Amino acid sequence: MGRVLFYDKKLSLNNTIACASCHHQDKAFADGLAVSPGFEGRQTSRNSMAILNPITQNNLFWDSRSQSIHDLSLRPVQNHIEMGMEDVDFLSKKLSETSYYTQLFKEAFGDTQITPDRISDALSQFIASITTSQSKFDKLSRGEGVAFTELEKVGMNLFFSAKAKCSSCHAGGNFSAPDGIFDPYGGGGGNGGEDLRGTANIGLDLIPVDAGLGEGKFKIPSLRNITLTGPYMHDGRFKTLEEVLDHYTNGIKATASLDPKFKDEAGRVKPLALSPLEKKAIVAFLGTLQDDSFTKDPKFSTPFRK
Ligand code: HEC
Ligand code: HEC
Repeated sequence: MGRVLFYDKKLSLNNTIACASCHHQDKAFADGLAVSPGFEGRQTSRNSMAILNPITQNNLFWDSRSQSIHDLSLRPVQNHIEMGMEDVDFLSKKLSETSYYTQLFKEAFGDTQITPDRISDALSQFIASITTSQSKFDKLSRGEGVAFTELEKVGMNLFFSAKAKCSSCHAGGNFSAPDGIFDPYGGGGGNGGEDLRGTANIGLDLIPVDAGLGEGKFKIPSLRNITLTGPYMHDGRFKTLEEVLDHYTNGIKATASLDPKFKDEAGRVKPLALSPLEKKAIVAFLGTLQDDSFTKDPKFSTPFRK
């Protein structure tokens, strides 16, 4: 039933927007836009996020404001977007008047009562079921007879190296803020052990336009399926992965809360020293995190006839 809710435009006030309007399966549940149109053409203030393995992430949204999928539950309907459906009691009433929901709620919960909590529950169960683990990288890790190209191998070694530093932030099974730990540096990385909630400031703006969690710190996003989820960053400013890597080598701004990983001992900006070929190799490695079975899995596709 969560799947039906996710794809149902009835969740918006005037039946024009569904969760799936901004979270497309073929794009790993991102939508390919820098910011997205919501209810009555209003725009989201941030880039629509991919949804992948959310159950193993303890920081959700660009500013890490939610710690679990169950906590976010109805929050997406209420405030992260514009669906015009802020009144959850009205939503319950509306769904009660929709023929197929009475039956679906009965099957899922044993009776036909439709409540905001049940709507949340069903939606979060569906979102929690969205998992990806069939990328080339996963298969290689499990020894399932796939091989990396030379370029991919070079890229992987760089990704995990002290030179490129990628894996010091994009870590763990999801290549995001390390699973289960809010402070990705364990308190030792020069930040005094403060609770960073898996966020960092990577020097996108000298003066942050959007503060994120505060001072321009944003969630360290997962890099799974990253080839499908552009444009990139919280505001969708970069169209390609090449542009992202160019940022790390020559775009970092000397902003006040710049992450210590991008500074030298004197506190000056120290960009990553990567050659064009090395950047190409890293992009090739990122391609191995793409999971094509996930984007085609009928389990996550629309239950509505087009
Ligand atoms: C109008 C576009 C839009 C619609 C509709 C929409 N979203 Fe989102 N979604 C976004 C944006 C933008 C973000 C990032 C928001 C932020 O960080 O402030 C996001 C973030 C998320 C995240 C966090 C992912 C992560 O890894 O941190 C989840 C989960 C999510 N949405 C689920 C949903 C669900 C469920 C619905 C329907 C109830 C929905 N979205 C409807 C645009 C949309
Ligand atoms: C200090 C921690 C840190 C390091 C080191 C780091 N990143 Fe990031 N990365 C982030 C954060 C935080 C964001 C999101 C920033 C934002 O949107 O404001 C991000 C965003 C990205 C994105 C865009 C993701 C999206 O969904 O839009 C890509 C791709 C990426 N990084 C790749 C890399 C690669 C490759 C490396 C190594 C060369 C690297 N990062 C090194 C913290 C880091």
